[in-house]
Amino acid sequence: MSSAPRTARRAAPARRTPQRQRLVRPQPEPPAGPVRSWLFVPGDNERKQEKALASAADAVILDLEDSVLPAQLPAARRRVAELLRAPRESRRPQLWVRVNAPSSGLLQDDLRAIFAAGPARGVVLPKVSSAAEILQLARQLSSLEAAARREAGSTRLLIIATETPAGVLSLAEYPAVLAPLPRVRQRIAGLTWGAEDLSSALGALARCDTSGALTFTFQLARTQCLLAAAAVGAQAIDGVCTDFREPARLQQELEMARRDGFTGKLAIHPEQIAPINAAFVPTEAEREHARRVVAAFAAAPAAGVVSLDGRMIDRPHLLQAQRVLAAAQRDQEAT
Ligand code: COA
Ligand code: MG
Repeated sequence: MSSAPRTARRAAPARRTPQRQRLVRPQPEPPAGPVRSWLFVPGDNERKQEKALASAADAVILDLEDSVLPAQLPAARRRVAELLRAPRESRRPQLWVRVNAPSSGLLQDDLRAIFAAGPARGVVLPKVSSAAEILQLARQLSSLEAAARREAGSTRLLIIATETPAGVLSLAEYPAVLAPLPRVRQRIAGLTWGAEDLSSALGALARCDTSGALTFTFQLARTQCLLAAAAVGAQAIDGVCTDFREPARLQQELEMARRDGFTGKLAIHPEQIAPINAAFVPTEAEREHARRVVAAFAAAPAAGVVSLDGRMIDRPHLLQAQRVLAAAQRDQEAT
């Protein structure tokens, strides 16, 4: 990428200015691969936005929805547009915008405000009740991208898929609806789940039982989200831990999230970022095990199945080990 201007300067030395302007060295891109931490910040709160942008979050979500009072929405849209327009030395964290729900009547104006400004990495769509709503937004984004002369498909999507009862039920349809639409599928960076709005829609008095475990309804929402994400090739992002003063609770949620296959988590407070980033990096013990699995297969190139420490390992174990090593490699490159 940098070779073109250098060649041009060599070919035309007379055009060099005596005091060459110092170029701002771009910061490294966020590590390719999963976006681990997604920090929400109200669209109208400048102080928190500054802090969020200076944080180690992989992505910041500028919120135009639930954390913004209706009377403040026009101001929040202007502020979000300003942030998208402002030049940045670093492409970290990625900038995303949570728009209002498809059923809100506010979505069009949110999108107009975003596209009138600089490009956002993506749009977070809340309270989704059906795959059809995603298809409709994808069509709108395609027209807006064409009108703004932006690359088709460059505005990605994070779907909050379990905030309405219909949304939870519709997750099972995602694979079939999206299978014939690879361009829509590629636009979807991730699926995530939320319990707050679902509780309120159901009139549920609690999300957890007396032992602190999610009740069946919320486990179902979380699991449907996890399965649908894997089935459509998107990242599964765990929902927020609203108890932001309880690091032990966050840690417990992170352990369960990683155990089950989530590769990132939403955050609402800067103090949640470091534990989230750390949680989605493989531990030394996991790396070591993965290296041994890969080595066991390398030592038996003709075998589809081998044994390691008295356990059978076959192709799914090899794929998982390769995934762990790729994540470890990304982590090393980013530090
Ligand atoms: N992003 C960036 N900075 C944040 C932040 C966030 N999400 N949340 C808090 N901070 C900052 C505060 O500004 C404060 O810094 P300061 O004292 O220098 O101003 C510092 O972190 C400590 O904040 P704290 O006092 O612990 O929290 P709070 O009581 O001010 O705010 C919340 C608590 C929950 C209201 C706040 O964290 C928040 O607004 N979170 C995002 C909410 C949201 O977007 N929800 C929608 C998605 S569910
Ligand atoms: Mg909400």
